Amino acid sequence: AERHHPGMPQDLSEALKEATKEVHIQAENAEFMKNFQKGQVTREGFKLVMASLYHVYVALEEEIERNKQNPVYAPLYFPEELHRKAALEQDMAFWYGPRWQETIPYTPATQHYVRRLHEVGQTQPKLLVAHAYTRYLGDLSGGQVLKKIAQKALGLPSSGEGVAFFTFPNIGNAIKFKQLYRARMNTLEMTPEVKQKVIEEAKTAFLLNIQLFEELQGLLNHNEEDQSSSQTSGLRQRASEGVWEGTQPTPAMVPSGKPQLSSLSQAPLLRWVLTFSFLVATVAVGLYAM
Ligand code: HEM
Repeated sequence: AERHHPGMPQDLSEALKEATKEVHIQAENAEFMKNFQKGQVTREGFKLVMASLYHVYVALEEEIERNKQNPVYAPLYFPEELHRKAALEQDMAFWYGPRWQETIPYTPATQHYVRRLHEVGQTQPKLLVAHAYTRYLGDLSGGQVLKKIAQKALGLPSSGEGVAFFTFPNIGNAIKFKQLYRARMNTLEMTPEVKQKVIEEAKTAFLLNIQLFEELQGLLNHNEEDQSSSQTSGLRQRASEGVWEGTQPTPAMVPSGKPQLSSLSQAPLLRWVLTFSFLVATVAVGLYAM
């Protein structure tokens, strides 16, 4: 089916699969994901990634609800089968307890991903398909393997407690459902220009996930160092499992609520101010020398 646009498959489903092949490999090879696949996932790491996914799916599904009647998305509206918010709420309660809403982390990379989802849903709903594709088809594919790994590594009951996110009770056959989903994607009316943008947005969606994994891995490594250097410090609290349990959150990792200006986004401004001051000083010295 490559008659009209050589190099890009005609069907959106095929085009997306092909265009994201490379970033998919990158995602699988992110350190966090590689460790996960080896069964090297801790409760701390799992809680962290699940909390991020909670925020991501709240945003994604809010934008899906906003656009469910819009023909650029409507054929892909499968709330009963796919939507993950309720499952993630169960997982949050399991992992963080009844006050999870106030205690779950909300990291900068998660906020970045969430911001993009709202931007797309509210200003470019034609591209929403790219985000739904990247998450839901991924969850229905590799997600099933990851569920078993997590259950084993974390010693979870086979009843599925703590991993509701990976369980799709309203999908009997994931392979069949993916086929239906691809067929629906291929019914969307799309100009070649929009199709190209959707493909670019899908790659962006993968990159947002990769950045998230990299950030979380960094937080975990950092926390590991903290715990080993705390052996000699009598002032530290008893070692706990969470990045935020027994640790005050920094402004960049607000436990919940609205995105905040993170210290990361202030760094470039500071650098700019310093550069500018330096230039002014240089010119002043130059003028003085004349
Ligand atoms: C450990 C990491 C991962 C593993 C082991 C994994 C594994 C897989 C497997 C086995 C498939 C099925 C391929 C096929 O049907 O031919 C798949 C498909 C897919 N994965 Fe992943 N995956 C991982 C991470 C991710 C991530 C992080 C994302 C994006 C957030 C993602 C998104 C997708 C998508 C969108 C598909 C459907 C491709 C298509 O049929 O068009 N995967 N993955």
